[in-house]
Amino acid sequence: MCGIVGACAQRDVAPILLEGLRRLEYRGYDSAGIALIEPEASLVRTRVTGRVDDLAAALEGRTPRGGTGIAHTRWATHGVPNDANAHPHTAGGEVALVHNGIIENHERLRERLRAEGYQFHSETDTEVAVSLIQQRHSAGRDLLEAVTDSLGELEGAYAFAVISAREPNRLIACRRGSPLVVGVGIGEHFVASDVAALLPVTRQFIFLEDGDVVDLGRDHLRVYDADGRPVERPIKTSELSAESVERGGYRHFMLKEIHEQPSAVSETLEGRHADGRVLEAALGHGAAELLDRAERLQIVACGTSYHAGLIARYWAEAYAGLPCEVEVASEYRYRAHAVSPGTLVVFISQSGETADVLAALRESRRLGYTGALAICNVPESSLVREADLTLLTRAGPEIGVASTKAFTTQLTALLLLVAAFARRRGRPQAERELMDAAITLPGALERALAVEPQVAELAEQFVDRAHALFLGRGAHYPVALEGSLKLKEISYIHAEAYPAGELKHGPLALVDDAMPVVAVAPRDDLLEKLHSNLQEVRARGGRLFVFADDAAALRPGNGFHVLPVPSAPEPISPIIHTIPLQLLAYHVAVLRGTDVDKPRNLAKSVTVE
Ligand code: M6R
Repeated sequence: MCGIVGACAQRDVAPILLEGLRRLEYRGYDSAGIALIEPEASLVRTRVTGRVDDLAAALEGRTPRGGTGIAHTRWATHGVPNDANAHPHTAGGEVALVHNGIIENHERLRERLRAEGYQFHSETDTEVAVSLIQQRHSAGRDLLEAVTDSLGELEGAYAFAVISAREPNRLIACRRGSPLVVGVGIGEHFVASDVAALLPVTRQFIFLEDGDVVDLGRDHLRVYDADGRPVERPIKTSELSAESVERGGYRHFMLKEIHEQPSAVSETLEGRHADGRVLEAALGHGAAELLDRAERLQIVACGTSYHAGLIARYWAEAYAGLPCEVEVASEYRYRAHAVSPGTLVVFISQSGETADVLAALRESRRLGYTGALAICNVPESSLVREADLTLLTRAGPEIGVASTKAFTTQLTALLLLVAAFARRRGRPQAERELMDAAITLPGALERALAVEPQVAELAEQFVDRAHALFLGRGAHYPVALEGSLKLKEISYIHAEAYPAGELKHGPLALVDDAMPVVAVAPRDDLLEKLHSNLQEVRARGGRLFVFADDAAALRPGNGFHVLPVPSAPEPISPIIHTIPLQLLAYHVAVLRGTDVDKPRNLAKSVTVE
């Protein structure tokens, strides 16, 4: 999604803004731009279709000077990716604005402004906002007033940063429905879509509340709430270092994040269990009361986080005897609900800013569900702020668009949650079984990562394929779903996943000797049945790639490749079997030469509907 960086400082800020944009690249974008107020108070702007490096190249030898500026990476929603639609947008040659989000009533406003003599130079909804602001500004309102008055006319979700050549030491920013943080420096202030952009210049941040407007200059910083009242927002010190969002020695962020999983999962478990039990404090203040009232779970999430929810459903019903449903967030608010009393809604999101997840949370409140628990990786996110309870995944920043360590830490947090329910529901043995398995996770993940050389070799057999099928059974069916999502999003190979028993109900028609079929085969009660499904594939000439638990003792043969996955206790087996599938997707993508960390058309954090 779009990325915003802005600054008001004594020094020239163009290099800070460009570095900030680089650090937001992971969010996904298709064009980039920058605008500054130069010392003689004129507004200069450069925009390019393409990468931040292209923007830097366009500025080479003529980098604008000036201490007040804004910059942007755009992920196209209204209008194709081109220079004219790229941000910043300007009006009257004096006001520039960058925007994340969608202005829903832009067409109506555009018609009105056209009738009033405004000309538009792009297809974007954003240009309407900057025109409204400039109209008021040129009529005598100062920049803060011009922005706040205009906000009343806008419908939709947005974060803005706005500058004006008339007020060179001022930047106004605001958020409603889209994330924005303020970076506090000494004699300088910044704004950005997330802290990663500003870590080289500050570790002090204000996390704006929804509806806040901030007025900042080199030496002033004032925050106003949604009703326009001045408010004090706490300044928090980020524990992240600038290096934590760098690649280290790895070729890609995704590979670094895959290898960080043992330590990330250790962090998720740290201080949350003792003697085979989940500590009450793990789920935060007030958890006991809410969990006691919960008679069933409804899990809501998108993408990879949704797959984590699907696995948790097996755990919740098998170990805690807790009824559990799982739903994609984008559907949740558009259907009628029959609300069952005692339903705790669990929202899973790496970013905590996914628009569909936030909308679902608000809808669940309106419907009167018992409570909202967030499983999230970003402590300052909107989701965490709005939920009743939070279980942080503590994975550290995930930069690769393809989610890896976020997924396994979400599953670890969900294991803790299910263990807590198991105890509450009179199943201490189940709680112990889950926790005994959970503490073996870091070591088991290390062992699973050791299969990388074999997976990398196997990847060669997928490079020239157009399609792939993934199969799994039980809690390993969502693992197959996650494996197919990873492969399609970063290698662009079309991949689908099925519960293996569904094969003969349709997808078997696709199987021939050009179709690789990936099967997840743990040593469990369903192994025999899975084995029969695999025979169905072999009989049609399909090429099988079986990721099998050591203990499953499957033998390779002609057209039947077996990749041994280290054995693990049953509860954590889905987590362990995920690792080789992540590695497979990664190595196939590298061999195909795709942009692994920033796959085409995708954004890291989907902050619009
Ligand atoms: O930040 P979230 O967990 O809410 O994001 C949800 C999905 O957009 C995300 O998991 C997406 O599917 C990933 N790119 C998958 O790798």
